[in-house]
Amino acid sequence: MRSASFLRPSILVVLLAATWASRAHASEGRYDAWLRYAPLTSAERVKYESLPSDVVVLSESPVLNTAQSELIRGLQGMLGRTLHSGRGLPQESAIVLGTLAGLHSIAPDFGAPKALRADGFSLMAVRFHGHDCLLVAGSSDRGVLYGVFALLRKIALGEDLRHLRETQEPAAPVRWVNDWDNLDGRIERGYGGPSIFFAEGNVHADLRRASEYARLLASVGINGCVVTNVNANPRVLAVDFLPQLARIADAFRPWGVQLGVSVDFSSPKALGDLDTFDPLDPRVADWWRQRADAIYKLIPDFGGFLVKADSEGRPGPASYGRSPADAANAIARALKPHGGIVFYRAFVYNHHLDWRDLKNDRARAAYDIFHPLDGKFDDNILIQIKNGPIDFQVREPASPLFGGLQKTNQAIELQITQEYLGQQRHLCHLVPMWKETLDFDFRVDGHTTPVKEIVTGKSFRRALGGFAGVANVGLNAYWLRSPMAMANLYGFARLAWDPDLSAAAIIDEWTRLTFGDDALVSNTIDAMQLSSWQTYEDYTGSLGIGTLTDILGAHYGPGVSSSENNGWGQWHRAGHDGVGMDRSVATGTGYVGQYPPEAQKLYETTPATPDQLLLFFHHVPYTYVLRSGQTVIQSIYDEHYEGVERVRDYLRQWQSLRGHVDKERYQFVLGQLQYQLGHAIVWRDAVCNWFLRTSGIPDAKGRVGHYPDRIEAESMRMEGYVSLDVDPPENASGGKAVECASPGKPCTASFIFDRAAGSYDLDIQYFDQNNGKSRFRILAGDRVIDEWTADDDLPSAKIGGDTSTRRHISAIPLKPGQEIRVEATPEGGELAAFDYLEIYRSPK
Ligand code: GCU
Repeated sequence: MRSASFLRPSILVVLLAATWASRAHASEGRYDAWLRYAPLTSAERVKYESLPSDVVVLSESPVLNTAQSELIRGLQGMLGRTLHSGRGLPQESAIVLGTLAGLHSIAPDFGAPKALRADGFSLMAVRFHGHDCLLVAGSSDRGVLYGVFALLRKIALGEDLRHLRETQEPAAPVRWVNDWDNLDGRIERGYGGPSIFFAEGNVHADLRRASEYARLLASVGINGCVVTNVNANPRVLAVDFLPQLARIADAFRPWGVQLGVSVDFSSPKALGDLDTFDPLDPRVADWWRQRADAIYKLIPDFGGFLVKADSEGRPGPASYGRSPADAANAIARALKPHGGIVFYRAFVYNHHLDWRDLKNDRARAAYDIFHPLDGKFDDNILIQIKNGPIDFQVREPASPLFGGLQKTNQAIELQITQEYLGQQRHLCHLVPMWKETLDFDFRVDGHTTPVKEIVTGKSFRRALGGFAGVANVGLNAYWLRSPMAMANLYGFARLAWDPDLSAAAIIDEWTRLTFGDDALVSNTIDAMQLSSWQTYEDYTGSLGIGTLTDILGAHYGPGVSSSENNGWGQWHRAGHDGVGMDRSVATGTGYVGQYPPEAQKLYETTPATPDQLLLFFHHVPYTYVLRSGQTVIQSIYDEHYEGVERVRDYLRQWQSLRGHVDKERYQFVLGQLQYQLGHAIVWRDAVCNWFLRTSGIPDAKGRVGHYPDRIEAESMRMEGYVSLDVDPPENASGGKAVECASPGKPCTASFIFDRAAGSYDLDIQYFDQNNGKSRFRILAGDRVIDEWTADDDLPSAKIGGDTSTRRHISAIPLKPGQEIRVEATPEGGELAAFDYLEIYRSPK
């Protein structure tokens, strides 16, 4: 079969294209994210000038109609051409959209495969029905839509279509996102504003953002979305609520996204219908059946239920001495006749563990509970397993449960929302981290069994398997707060489609789709994103110790000791003698024994364990020498300092993009990186000072505890300000800050500058709580050098590591004898607290 001849550039076309002015985007890359369809440069546009002018679709369905209109929209945006739309057979050269079955019935040997895995597609430039055509052939309507998005992506990336002949099939059938939205509109661990689905107990009347979301998801092959919090509200299943859910399904349907909801396992009782929720009670099984029937009556393509049970206080089968298999099967059997599935989460553990018992280990829980049940789950159930055995920490080994379920369907749960990873205020691109887990080889029975092949169903020949990404998008214009964080949603979906894609390839696609094709921009952003997870790990918690965040608070700022001496089990066991958790079989909790024998060898002994995971698996003295040749304590110090320097570098790199990125996103990301640098310093100092105090071993490089450029607030001359102790002390410089104690009245803190005359930069570290909006002003002599309102919405009302914020002022001419003064007016509960000033020579 020969290729079509319609894709030939011509000189005339070049000239015409060159005159077509590029469209200025007022709000570049906001709601549209990577689907901007920004006009191509004239040089690129010319490649597509001979694309057919017609787009015909062989038959009708909501998804096919969407595919056709999306193609028209995309080409209009990128090429400035309006395609004619038609139905039925092409009468001339055309882009033809149809299912494989439909196309084969017209032209039995046009060259596409006879059948493809669900959601797969072929793109081909061929003679079809007597004309040069570009075919988008899907295994189903949804496959056609995915094919259209793939075609649009190729054009956006400037790929040559002349000899197009490509077939793609997803690695796994299940590629879902989970959104932890509450019916009142708040989102559990959501950092991108309120819910796009719910407000005040109801589904939004206006679901445009929900359909825009479905469009984004479909564009990268996501085929299902759970819209409610795993900590579920029984009301989701109330009969009078179901019509509201049906409206969300209606918004999703044209994009081929199936609706799912999280269910409260006690619903049969909690909704007042029964006096029990025992899964083995026939009345309970019947209740689930009736409720499923009612749902499918309204939503015939409903996807299924997500279940969190017996976890973190949620009701579950344990109340009746029943197992997770009893629970999951009772629900799955209700969905089965309708084709629905159950995602049963393996995130089940006791959060009242006795921390004094060194053999206790939360990391063991999922395997201990679910491994014995392997083979007992019905075939429309997937056990949804978090990537690591704890809880989305900055680094964890792969959950041993992946290797421990060979007769059960699995889905890997990855967290797109950056709960423990900077909450979308810190740049932290997660594809490299996810790839480490996906590529981890369990060597089950001595064979290659990487996680990616286990969860897709390949390793153990399961028909069902896949990916669940906790997205938590919100009404925020960038969906996840920051445009940069959208790379995590994009990357999750691309990996779910093809986990063999490299992190570098994924980020480069994303950057070019999101920011355009300027090589300076894509090289810079790609490099920043690809190194950002490592950077975040370096200044938060290194050597596998987990994110050293305040686990009892917002999971945001530093809180090194918060994970100790409580039952949550996120222990790092750092004390005077050493640090890390002994999980070995020989002397520890035995967790290592949950891996197959070859994998055990990687972790059982300290010399074998990779440095990055050493403290996850072993308790060692601070003077233990790593494979890198460094001691543990010096490595902790060094990594924290290096992490900060890398963020400083991101800021410089981003500044090199001024004028190359639209103003709005340039400013937004610049502000984020400035903030991140300040907060990275807070993290660095908190963690390093905590370890200095605990270990008693100084930093060989003399940095920790010594800050020659700092002027502590409590050492300044104060009027109205009073000094206070910050808890925990390492979260403020010197353990102290000052606050303006007289409500409503301004306070000042000042000192006399005594260094040589010159140009200086000044940073002020202050506390921007979420319970007020204080005003700050800084003066050098009589001159106001900066003023601002502390009106960020950081996740705390307290003075501490969550709220400590830095403001930077450049190039201030100063001379000795000059007074530097901070003037502030508190507001609400926020007492204009600050920690210190740092003054240093302006960089040349
Ligand atoms: C984390 C998170 C909770 C969430 C839980 C879960 O612990 O902090 O908000 O409910 O994970 O995944 O169920």
